[in-house]
Amino acid sequence: MEAIAVFEALPASDPNCFKEIKVETPVPTGQDILVRIDAISINPVDSKERLGIVERLDEPLILGWDTCGEVIAIGADVKRFKPGDMVISAGEITRPGCYAQYQLLDERIVGHKPESLTCEEAATLPLTTLVAWEALFDRLEISRNDTERPALLIIGAAGGLGSMAIQFARQFSNCTIIATASRPESQKWCTDLGAHHVVDHFGDLAAQLKAIGHETVPYILNCSDNLPYWQIMSELVAPEGAICLVASTKAKLDLDLYMAKSVRINYELMFTRSLFGTDKMPLQGALLDKLSDMISQGTIRHVMTENFGPMTAGTLAKAHAHIEKGRMLGKMALSGIQPA
Ligand SMILES: NC(=O)c1ccc[n+]([C@@H]2O[C@H](COP(=O)([O-])OP(=O)(O)OC[C@H]3O[C@@H](n4cnc5c(N)ncnc54)[C@H](OP(=O)(O)O)[C@@H]3O)[C@@H](O)[C@H]2O)c1
Repeated sequence: MEAIAVFEALPASDPNCFKEIKVETPVPTGQDILVRIDAISINPVDSKERLGIVERLDEPLILGWDTCGEVIAIGADVKRFKPGDMVISAGEITRPGCYAQYQLLDERIVGHKPESLTCEEAATLPLTTLVAWEALFDRLEISRNDTERPALLIIGAAGGLGSMAIQFARQFSNCTIIATASRPESQKWCTDLGAHHVVDHFGDLAAQLKAIGHETVPYILNCSDNLPYWQIMSELVAPEGAICLVASTKAKLDLDLYMAKSVRINYELMFTRSLFGTDKMPLQGALLDKLSDMISQGTIRHVMTENFGPMTAGTLAKAHAHIEKGRMLGKMALSGIQPA
């Protein structure tokens, strides 16, 4: 099969950043399904993994996680899918990714594609659905039956992750959603997705929250880097509140800032369940199936804003350069590799 790989941490502007290669088409065994990749989406993790390569690799590294395509073959133990089914998945961090014609996926982390969406639209959904849902309801433990209206601050809310977090919080909690976005178009995007208030993360956050009646908030989901927000989050979080972090931080952070308020600090990594094969792994496949129902019912909408066309070394380089600017509204998609 054809695939597009990286070997070293070249900048996206380098013409050798991605290489078009040929590798053996994998064969599914056990709980794996073989999926023909019809569309993919790009996340910051794609770029972080590329730039994280330390020494030139001898073997090609096939990146890419968000995927949509058709089941072509199944392993002997597969129960939920059959050839011909259209599926979506966010893949696993340790396995070859979706910058290829075909990919093996463990059926426990795969869901059925929402029927009403194109493959490109559907491919923008799985990864950010899983991380947004787990962040809000498993890590922050936001109640889905709250009679009060606790405030949820989502920092960096107009990107891929925030776009799903706003929608889930609006549809499945009673939270007052305060999104941060810095540009008129990203501010409007957050309001259109369901944020009750939008404040500018490059302005004085404490003053802006106070102006809308919130000195502190019980819940914070930080979709941006931790270090720039470490001090201000400790001021804005309510006593006994909770914070969810999704980005890794190389710098040392002073945890004691949060001690006086007894704040619960949580990490969310969407890959944890598959990385450790935990018994919660099948919840991810089930959540993606539930997402398809939400899309059919119109409760949640896809967030594709850009389509870079069929995957090639060139279009992937453009897509990586684009996400590295840190100015996404929602998500971008690419179509599958066109057979030669
Ligand atoms: N742990 C996990 O499982 C997991 C999963 C998914 C994502 N993540 C991480 O979550 C982060 C966000 O992912 P994403 O997909 O939402 O990224 P994204 O789509 O690239 O985010 C783009 C958004 O970031 C905002 N932004 C830029 N600079 C900012 C700043 N200084 N402060 C606050 N917001 C800023 C921009 O808003 P404006 O244009 O309005 O400024 C833009 O809308 C990334 O670090 C990603 O690696 C982790």
